[in-house]
Amino acid sequence: MKVEDIIKDFPILQNRKETYLDSGATTQKPYQVLNAIDNYYKSYNANPHRGAYSLSIEATEKYEETRAKIAKFINAKHSEEIIFSKNATESLNLIAYSYGMENLQADDEVVLSIMEHHSNLVPWQKVTKCAKSNLKYMYINEEYEISDEEIENKITNKTKIVGIAHVSNVLGTINNVKKIIKYAHKKGAVVIVDASQSIPHMKIDVQDLDADFLVFSGHKMLAPMGIGVLYGKREILNKMTPFLMGGDMIEYVYEQNTTYAPLPNKFEAGTQNIEGVIGLGAAIDYIEKIGYDTIQEIENEVVSYAIEELSKLDYIKLYITPNKENHSGVISFNINGVHPHDVASILDAEKVCVRSGNHCAQPLLRLLGIDSTCRASFYIYNTKEDVDNLIKALKKAYEMFKKYIKS
Ligand code: ALA
Repeated sequence: MKVEDIIKDFPILQNRKETYLDSGATTQKPYQVLNAIDNYYKSYNANPHRGAYSLSIEATEKYEETRAKIAKFINAKHSEEIIFSKNATESLNLIAYSYGMENLQADDEVVLSIMEHHSNLVPWQKVTKCAKSNLKYMYINEEYEISDEEIENKITNKTKIVGIAHVSNVLGTINNVKKIIKYAHKKGAVVIVDASQSIPHMKIDVQDLDADFLVFSGHKMLAPMGIGVLYGKREILNKMTPFLMGGDMIEYVYEQNTTYAPLPNKFEAGTQNIEGVIGLGAAIDYIEKIGYDTIQEIENEVVSYAIEELSKLDYIKLYITPNKENHSGVISFNINGVHPHDVASILDAEKVCVRSGNHCAQPLLRLLGIDSTCRASFYIYNTKEDVDNLIKALKKAYEMFKKYIKS
């Protein structure tokens, strides 16, 4: 499939004039996803697991079929290892509050990478404080990567939990999660992989990675907002107690005590986001129809071109690894001496959408000695023309601000 054909599937790209370079924040949605949601409400809307009537049974079947589809998509061994959540943030909080609170003891260590999104960092601050355990970080080298040496220095026999972003939402660095998992397991730690910025772009195989937990959000991979996934190994999930309590997660409720439902319901309290689940299923069908090989071919061409063109502007600083094979579709940059919000405003006036700010990764930016960047992030519908629009707008921003830049 060619990028020109893919673009035709995205109504917003037909209806608006913007150059959309913020897919790291959320992707646009194709007709196939929008139609699947529309069809759900028009054809089989009912509350799953709640009714004995055919309509509810049909909604339950579609909901559970999507769970099985996701299990197959990430090669999970069992369908019940897939838990639906609101987003990656909720999945990570579930792990921290359930697994973390129950298993961490005083003096145990939780090791995170310094490039974690706040959602895989702030919950661990709270949980380690409660458990009186320690929070440690794996830092990046001058190539914006975590070295093998750093992994081996930080993960020790005291480490009980390791949290790692598969791809950094700021640097685009692809971390060697397989290696980290293997090393952590040798030391007896469990590993949580945040796949939010990787799963839209690359094949994930949880069994091959041997990840204990893996999380992602639907809205960064063509699905609607408000739907996320937590994958966990069945033997670990079975031992955990629920994070949210309420309807559908129980077996028996007595006046003073409750027994819990088996997986996956144990972790899905309350009425779920069924339209989100249906949309996520359609998004997975769409990604599989295009295929990750094609996705990467399209992205590699555009991202390489963007790096090439940005590198020609000597007033721009790029925050990316020089090792191309370790870099995904995210490019953070600054115009030296100009605040990223000012740059982003000029780009907006030129109808180019980029994110500016700390990208929910303040400790990483502090380590880099800055408080924010502009970030262009790319997906399957982006073209070299989009890059040209970005470069044109950046040249304009520089012309406007250069007289104010202190040398
Ligand atoms: N976490 C999302 C991002 O990186 C919102 O933009």
